[in-house]
Amino acid sequence: MTSPPSLSELFDHDPGRAGRYCVEAGDLRIDYSKQPITDEILAGLLDRARAAGVERRRDAMFAGEHINVTEDRAVLHTALRAPRDAVIEVDGENVVPGVYEVLDAMSRFADRIRADESITDIVNIGIGGSDLGPAMAAQALVAYGHERLTCHFVSNVDGADVDATLRAIRPESTLFIVASKTFGTIETLTNARTARAWLVDALGDEAVKDHFVAVSTNAERVEEFGIDTANMFGFWDWVGGRYSVDSAIGLSLMIYIGPERFREFLDGFRAIDEHFRTASLEENAPVLMGMVGILNSDDLGRDTKAVLPYAQELARFPAYLQQLDMESNGKRVTLAGEPVEGGTGPIVWGEPGTNGQHAFYQLLHQGTRIVPVDFIGFANPNHPYRHHHDLLMANLFAQAEALAFGRRNADEPFRNFPGDRPSTMILAERLTPSTLGQLIALYEHIVFVQGTVWGINSFDQWGVELGKELANRITPELSGDPTPSEHDTSTNAAITWYRTHR
Ligand code: F6P
Repeated sequence: MTSPPSLSELFDHDPGRAGRYCVEAGDLRIDYSKQPITDEILAGLLDRARAAGVERRRDAMFAGEHINVTEDRAVLHTALRAPRDAVIEVDGENVVPGVYEVLDAMSRFADRIRADESITDIVNIGIGGSDLGPAMAAQALVAYGHERLTCHFVSNVDGADVDATLRAIRPESTLFIVASKTFGTIETLTNARTARAWLVDALGDEAVKDHFVAVSTNAERVEEFGIDTANMFGFWDWVGGRYSVDSAIGLSLMIYIGPERFREFLDGFRAIDEHFRTASLEENAPVLMGMVGILNSDDLGRDTKAVLPYAQELARFPAYLQQLDMESNGKRVTLAGEPVEGGTGPIVWGEPGTNGQHAFYQLLHQGTRIVPVDFIGFANPNHPYRHHHDLLMANLFAQAEALAFGRRNADEPFRNFPGDRPSTMILAERLTPSTLGQLIALYEHIVFVQGTVWGINSFDQWGVELGKELANRITPELSGDPTPSEHDTSTNAAITWYRTHR
């Protein structure tokens, strides 16, 4: 496409765009006026969304159709936050009563642990979607956490991770939650075995039943591992790992913030689900943000996207979004198995402001690459230091302004800020369980819209399999008898080097 006019030109000719290109969804105010759009460009983008069948596919998702075709599964994370009296059928069966059965069991358990003075530490052992969601959310909602409880998250198979956590806790006052959808993930099982051995060493076998619970879809493997299925909280194959923070995978979070706050978290998701399901495309925040993202990546060749929360508690939000977006839309073939024509999902990255300003923003302002930015900020902090917050938010507003409009300095090229660097600004009154749920659901649906337009399956992740398979093959070669020779010469040499130096 021909380049759109610069942001300075767009604002000069149309100051009203600030009001026009701003949408409210739930409690979120989303200003996308500093994106390179005009009414005409936007109309074209929405036509493209319509032509790709975004509305049809959205309705199919909410209705429980098997839209995850490569795994022949429904995609129903939205059922996890549906009202108790909703009816959502998967293959003829209403799944909502099952959702509430688990939520009620989680609530009873969470209340019991919160009231149990002997427990001070909760350790969630999981990885990917079984870690990033609760880890990100527990940090985000630290202001709402139980003051006696500390949440720890062990994910990496690197023993340094479990070691650091085990050093910080005592066996008699710790609850371990082993979280794994499949209960077959080597990292999680390895960490869980190490933690169990540590506990048994201190308190004996009998202690396992009081200090270990599981979250999984696979009861058989949970039992095999040695956790009584009476201490298991289930979910379903129609919940993708990266879409599971609002399922039983959120148990650590629920214990930490309490069932009531967890319900508010789910209500937040639901507010955005309803918005996404019912708002016209012109007013539909996930559709608008999704299509602006497609404009930036497909049409303007911007390969990455930075998410910059001006909230220290959201420090893990970019990492969470990396899995949500890149595992969903990092695909190269269409639903029909054909190569995609253009590109697909962007590289997502970010850090909280203002820290990033003193690190990588130089490139954002004057580098040769244009990086579209999502800024996130709140009117009120969850701490008592208002003057810090005013400073923080002044920086957010300043950065968006500086990126968009720059400052011309023809005499001193080093001090020239070209501007015309796009951003979207998402604001809410406060970071609460509800607004966090709203933010997550917003991004879930953005990913959905983009995946639909690209014609890919956002709900499988075959790309992670090859590395896992090769690691399984290499593991015995690192210490066993056979000298590796079945690999390429570089891999063989690395393994040989490791064997001689380990
Ligand atoms: O390897 C990727 C992945 O399958 C993710 O999609 C998932 O969230 C993660 O591993 C953990 O899987 P599980 O919950 O089954 O342990």
